[in-house]
Amino acid sequence: MKILALVGTNAKFSYNRILLKYMKKHFRQMADIEIYEISKLPPFSVDVPLAEQTEVWKLKQKVKAADGVIFSTPEYDHGIPAALKSAVEWLSYHTNVLSHKPTMVVGVSYGRQASARSQVQMRQILVSPDCDTNLLPGNEVLIGNASHSFSKDGRLLDPQMRDNLEDCFTHFVEYIQIFEKVNKEGLDMSVKQPTISEAYINFPTGRLTLKEVQQIFSTIPFEIDLIDSTDHFAWFSDKPNREHVRNVASLGETVQECHPPMAVPTVMKIINSFRNGEKDVVTRPLWMNGHRSLIQYYALRDINGHYLGTIEFTGSVEYILNLFENGAWGTDGNTSASKHDEPANDGAEEESVDASTGASESSDDGNAEPTSSTVATPALAPTVDAAESDATTGASDAGSVDANDEEADATTGASEN
Ligand SMILES: Cc1cc2nc3c(=O)[nH]c(=O)nc-3n(C[C@H](O)[C@H](O)[C@H](O)COP(=O)(O)O)c2cc1C
Repeated sequence: MKILALVGTNAKFSYNRILLKYMKKHFRQMADIEIYEISKLPPFSVDVPLAEQTEVWKLKQKVKAADGVIFSTPEYDHGIPAALKSAVEWLSYHTNVLSHKPTMVVGVSYGRQASARSQVQMRQILVSPDCDTNLLPGNEVLIGNASHSFSKDGRLLDPQMRDNLEDCFTHFVEYIQIFEKVNKEGLDMSVKQPTISEAYINFPTGRLTLKEVQQIFSTIPFEIDLIDSTDHFAWFSDKPNREHVRNVASLGETVQECHPPMAVPTVMKIINSFRNGEKDVVTRPLWMNGHRSLIQYYALRDINGHYLGTIEFTGSVEYILNLFENGAWGTDGNTSASKHDEPANDGAEEESVDASTGASESSDDGNAEPTSSTVATPALAPTVDAAESDATTGASDAGSVDANDEEADATTGASEN
């Protein structure tokens, strides 16, 4: 179980940070607690330029990926610190990543009231319509007299406080599990029965059951993502070991919301070039996860050419490149290779017979027109358009085609690093 814990202050020294570090260690068997420093965030303002919101975007990704979020709040003037309020404002602004997220409030302060007042305020904020969290009710972790409550090495000294903390955290874990169960049952249902178990689609070229459609997307050697015509992240193929790990929590987000801010201009450039008909394909060869990969963006259009969205194909091309480098197509591309459309190696794996129809691609006279299955290029030849560089830093890698373009995943913006 992954829990994100926000230190509710931007101060360098904080008892609330000590409490969270203690919880991370003490409850390590029950959950993986990641501590987040809100001091990394700019002060909230609707006027902060998108390019300066990279850290906000990163925090939002962490919240999305977490099973639950803990807020540890000090008490400043009977309320929560401004820096914590600012962090929550970022989280609820535009995309509310806190919506339905299981949350828990804890706190340490100097006073005998032990951050009770700031915690009440925090709870009120977390159930506001724009935050809309699933806040763990009751279960108050109120640690006062901060300077005497912890040992020098960060242990919570009072046994009663410890017991209370253990009870409350256990309840939070159970609380999260309830939501996980509900979500999982919903998910299982969609995997087993995408819509109606016996349903099928009659394509002009044959019939596929919904189960076959689902499994085709899981089996093909590349992954697919779709941004719809209104620039929302609409769908991704459910494939194991994806190059880009996608999160269902990002579905429905706008292009601006689901990308690192630095990447948005590049992504929009690709999408707009598809929308206005300027381009149909953008191709990007790059290294991903230690191997050579190819990303291809295609404009999705209806039969009348109207723009339906952008699809992104991503896959490792190591296997194909290895075949090529080992001479699978022969050595001389101009004269000898594929004269007779036959494999140049003698491996049994790469046969020329079409396994599903039995039709052979080989032709006796070597002059046969290529069939649709042998045409390698799409309607418009792919253009190498965007360079490999880090969307977060803007740093460009060697081998870039255009050093001004940023690394951007046109559908969701995940960094290739
Ligand atoms: C501006 C300010 C206002 C404070 N107001 C309160 C308060 O209302 N109640 C309280 O118990 N402690 C108050 N304190 C003391 C904090 O509880 C104490 O600084 C505590 O250590 C803050 O938590 P931290 O160590 O995690 O930053 C205040 C501290 C500051 C800096």
